[in-house]
Amino acid sequence: MADYLTEHQRSLAEPSAYWLEQASDIHWYTPPTQGVNTSHTPSGTWFADGQTNACYNALDRHIQAGRGEQAALIHDSPVTNTHSVLTYTQLQDQVAHFAGVLINQGVDRGDRVMIYMPMIPEALIAMLACARIGAIHTVVFGGFASKELAVRINDCSPKLIVAASCGIEPGRIVEYQPLVEQAIAQAEQSLNTCIVFQREQCHWTLKADRDLDWQAVMAQSQPVDCVPLKSTDPLYILYTSGTTGSPKGVVKDTGGSIVSLKWTMSAIYNVQAGDVYWAASDIGWVVGHSYIVYGPLFQGCTTLMYEGKPVGTPDAGAFWRVIQQNKVKVLFTAPTAFRAIKRMDPDGALLADYDVSSLQALYLAGERCDPDTLQWAQEKLNVPVIDHWWQTETGYSICANCQGIEALPIVPGSPSVAVPGYDVQVLDNNAKPVATGDIGSIVVKLPLPPGTFVDLWQANDRFTSAYFSRFPGFYETGDAGFIDDNGYVFVMSRTDDVINVAGHRLSTGAMEEVLSNHPDVAECAVMGVNDELKGQLPVGLVILNAGCDKSHQQISAELVQKVREDIGPVAAFKSVAVVEKLPKTRSGKILRGTLRSIANSTDWNMPATIEDPSVLNDITDSLKSLGLAK
Ligand code: COA
Ligand code: AMP
Repeated sequence: MADYLTEHQRSLAEPSAYWLEQASDIHWYTPPTQGVNTSHTPSGTWFADGQTNACYNALDRHIQAGRGEQAALIHDSPVTNTHSVLTYTQLQDQVAHFAGVLINQGVDRGDRVMIYMPMIPEALIAMLACARIGAIHTVVFGGFASKELAVRINDCSPKLIVAASCGIEPGRIVEYQPLVEQAIAQAEQSLNTCIVFQREQCHWTLKADRDLDWQAVMAQSQPVDCVPLKSTDPLYILYTSGTTGSPKGVVKDTGGSIVSLKWTMSAIYNVQAGDVYWAASDIGWVVGHSYIVYGPLFQGCTTLMYEGKPVGTPDAGAFWRVIQQNKVKVLFTAPTAFRAIKRMDPDGALLADYDVSSLQALYLAGERCDPDTLQWAQEKLNVPVIDHWWQTETGYSICANCQGIEALPIVPGSPSVAVPGYDVQVLDNNAKPVATGDIGSIVVKLPLPPGTFVDLWQANDRFTSAYFSRFPGFYETGDAGFIDDNGYVFVMSRTDDVINVAGHRLSTGAMEEVLSNHPDVAECAVMGVNDELKGQLPVGLVILNAGCDKSHQQISAELVQKVREDIGPVAAFKSVAVVEKLPKTRSGKILRGTLRSIANSTDWNMPATIEDPSVLNDITDSLKSLGLAK
């Protein structure tokens, strides 16, 4: 491959030619002649006249090329103490049969199928079966509660839901039946069919007129072939947090996703067919979609699905055991996972028990990576540790140190440089470029490269207004940061109310909605405060209605429980303080920046616009009672 600068410049100078060249690396029923088309949407659509299929590119293609007996999927599950392998032929057989099950249930091309499953092979099988027949999957992370499921059911009206009887968290079984039933009861859209994979740890009591047993329907189905799809047909919808309580249904197309993800496997991760690739994430997140399921399989790798945690399953040596046992070449996870390991085993003593020599690189993403964690990992593992920055919307890295193009110097604190296809710039509030090194909004000049989002599901106006209106001609990433003299990008914080808890993207707005719905709450604010392990944690401040005689402790417990029930345990919402007033501007806006600075004990200036400065004393005392504002 060419050196980084040449490659990057060419990708921007002639995007259609550049990506049509990469497109020749995948299987097409009808190869595209068109690259990008910007006439319908600000982001651009890709390869409009091509026909392809993601499942064919993930499985059938490799079997035809002689990889049928190679391991396609390793399931490594310390929480069930099991380890299993499916070859490409075995995986294709299961996927083709499950595609038959979907057809038998009347699922057509373009129909939505919701998948609510833990990290088990059947989740990946269900996703690929949808892709095989042109159904659009929408996976919901198992740590979300029933209300979040209901919101998604209403938004995309799935034909059916595929679920498992339970997920397994260290120390507890998460029963899915009550969560799914509550969601169906709460949703306005009807959902009449659940296909249930029974796990031995917990039984789902099947309802005769609604529930189908996975094993039973698989036994009755015939395998079906891949269907040629338009490149622009949606592959999946994945919901992500925005600034309001209603999540955004990010839509990815078929052709662009295959071309870009396959390309990233060699260009960014430097892995080839036959290599073992492990993304220690969850299929409910974009990292899981792109790098547990699609990317590694498009490349003919062996993908590793891990049902466990970095610590506690059984100890902080879990990752080293998985690398040794499965000969992992590349590991991808969130910095928080390494912070958790480092906290339990600061000297990396457990590494001495394992042979991790198969590992050639560690990739981190999902949140800002603090230099300490990066350096610790690099020192202990003695491999390049690559921080890279991306989002659900883009599906792969916007910035990375592309190991398959040219390994550039690693600069801790920066996810390196713009990936080919992305023209990354930093603008001020007037949409003017800032000086090198100055902080501003990070944007990407349009068009976006293939594989990035093409719409928000049934919310095209929101798609345009949320991402393309503030900076005309650019995609607004929602992140703030700067670019240095060498073109290295530094991503410092969000510009909206999205926070990042243990690598999970959550909306403080959604949590505020839950708190305000409590009958005793008059007003509230939720903010993200810094946390050594999880990066950020949400903290709530509430003002109670006059006449509420409950103790603060009781109110606080009720609110914590409510967020757990409505959003899910993954929100990790555990701290609430009752206050008399919130600091506001004279025009009534809550001064969130000031609140955050006080909570994080960082320097702050009294805002000129504050209505009543004395409020801040009360707030500081309340935050101190939560162990903050030291
Ligand atoms: N189903 C149900 N509940 C889940 C869940 C799932 N799939 N995933 C997490 N939860 C629950 C946890 O059990 C926990 O519940 P609790 O409040 O009863 O203890 C809560 O959600 C918070 O979970 P988490 O943020 O994962 O914290 P943790 O303390 O259990 O673990 C880490 C901390 C750092 C070990 C863990 O967050 C981790 O491995 N992070 C990696 C992040 C990652 O993969 N990010 C994806 C982007 S790359
Ligand atoms: P998600 O859509 O859940 O993948 O979250 C995307 C957001 O996580 C980004 O907009 C950033 O705010 C943050 N993020 C992801 N990767 C990085 C990184 N390497 N450095 C800094 N922030 C990151």
